[in-house]
Amino acid sequence: MRKTLLVLFIAVSFMEAKELNTQMQEYMNTLKAEAKQESQNFTGFDYARGEKIFTTEAIGKKGKLISCVSCHTNDLSKSGMNEHTNKVIEPLSPTTNPQRLTDVKEVTKWLRRNFKDVYNREGTATEKGDVLTYILNK
Ligand code: HEC
Repeated sequence: MRKTLLVLFIAVSFMEAKELNTQMQEYMNTLKAEAKQESQNFTGFDYARGEKIFTTEAIGKKGKLISCVSCHTNDLSKSGMNEHTNKVIEPLSPTTNPQRLTDVKEVTKWLRRNFKDVYNREGTATEKGDVLTYILNK
């Protein structure tokens, strides 16, 4: 019995490894509430829409075609390279890089900047939630 419980406990701890911490969960809930205000048809964040946001090229801030992939690559478990500065960017996937998506301040700062880099505007709450859902589950 004790052994079964221990195994169960270990299994649950592993399952939770990819879950967001409390401050990030609260941030996602705030985004969800805002997304509902943006559209009455909103039913939840969507991986496929997030993937599209992440991979679509647009004429960015610097006037040339760029996407999130340009700096972060299409394999989020690999390091990327900043298109503008040629600096290495650590992997974006929280599975490979446990520091990712743990600090709301960091996440909001970079989403604001990076949406401007690519789309020349800030992302909506729906877009931010979608792309974070993609990064978390890719
Ligand atoms: C011009 C290069 C560039 C582009 C384009 C870019 N990023 Fe980033 N991104 C960075 C840099 C630099 C950082 C901060 C350095 C770091 O955290 O390694 C960062 C950090 C982030 C973070 C912070 C993650 C964390 O928890 O630390 C997220 C989320 C993110 N980017 C998402 C995106 C999304 C979504 C797009 C497309 C809309 C995008 N990025 C496009 C360069 C870029």
